[in-house]
Amino acid sequence: MAIEAILSKNELDKYDIIELLKSDFDERNKLYKFASEIKSKYVGRKTFFRGLIEFSNKCSKNCLYCGIRRGNRNVTRYDLSDDEILKSVQFAIDNNYGSVVLQGGELENPKHTDRIESLIKEMMILSDWKLGITLSLGEQSYETYKKWIEAGAKRYLLRIESSNKELYYEIHPKDKLHDFDRRLECLKILKELNYQVGTGVIVGLPGQSLEHLADDLLFMKNFDIDMCGMGPYLEHQDTPLFKKKDELIPLEDRFNLTLKMISILRIMMKDINIAASTAMQSIDKFGREKALKAGANIIMPNITPGSFRDYYKLYENKPCTDEEADDCLNCMEIRITIAGDEIGLSEHGDSPHFLKKQNNN
Ligand code: 5AD
Ligand code: SF4
Ligand code: FES
Repeated sequence: MAIEAILSKNELDKYDIIELLKSDFDERNKLYKFASEIKSKYVGRKTFFRGLIEFSNKCSKNCLYCGIRRGNRNVTRYDLSDDEILKSVQFAIDNNYGSVVLQGGELENPKHTDRIESLIKEMMILSDWKLGITLSLGEQSYETYKKWIEAGAKRYLLRIESSNKELYYEIHPKDKLHDFDRRLECLKILKELNYQVGTGVIVGLPGQSLEHLADDLLFMKNFDIDMCGMGPYLEHQDTPLFKKKDELIPLEDRFNLTLKMISILRIMMKDINIAASTAMQSIDKFGREKALKAGANIIMPNITPGSFRDYYKLYENKPCTDEEADDCLNCMEIRITIAGDEIGLSEHGDSPHFLKKQNNN
């Protein structure tokens, strides 16, 4: 079927999605353009900033692809002090960022839970209850998620990484700590607690087919997510998955496949928030701008103090590790203007999809 015929359908099925994922140069540009028009119509041309604070690279997990996995001894572990975190938050407030993302390795213990709870409360006070707080702290119990939303957090990012159980276990150790069903359960709890829920997948993993990716998009649609972050797989030499590097498709193809995933998701879920992930920029200097043009509407400038950035390397060639928060802000402003978008300042930039659901209840 010609691409125009697929794009004119009201709902895409798995075979349509696979066709779109296969699209060649001319076709994929039509796909991006179509998704960009949907973005303008349903979420507007405002790009929202989320100041990203990678506050600690200490992690109890051992995901086979990740550079800061517990088993990697070549990493200098760090954990910002509460003061340092709050300084980064102050930077976000001073520069009219509507919201911040608190991201760290996955830890589950009462001390950590309490620490995050009081940090959220302090962030709310610091910003006069104006800041939108997003958490990205992995799998936690119902009680923990509940404490954090009651303290003031609004959104939670927990990537499913792959919605296919077999593939999930190809990229995670097969043990109790890396349980696919628990991850899914956590996403359900987050939804039940009324967080704005974000998930996503890694694109271009060894052993991943277009069918897997089509299923990932359908999973997100069926789960009715509010936000999404997807990025290309970037191999890291200190990880077990590195040995499968010869099975990978070229970097450029992983990049284009991610752009197609963003566009197709924008078409399938018109009013959700979709992030232009940092990993896109590791492959292409203008990777995040291209993602914005293909349908993404969220950018997460790094506001972690510069001296720690080098240690939060989930993958190699991570951009902005030599920069400070000010540099990234200036750089991002220019980039967004080039992509033909405006910056949404002093606004939470909530997922319109989530707000609509709230209004209907
Ligand atoms: N390549 C691409 N993405 C990665 N992540 C972790 N390691 C890698 C890698 N090597 C992503 C995971 C995780 C997010 C914080 O970073 O999807 O959820
Ligand atoms: Fe830890 Fe997240 Fe890396 Fe897995 S992907 S090892 S949970 S930081
Ligand atoms: Fe960090 Fe460009 S976004 S320097």
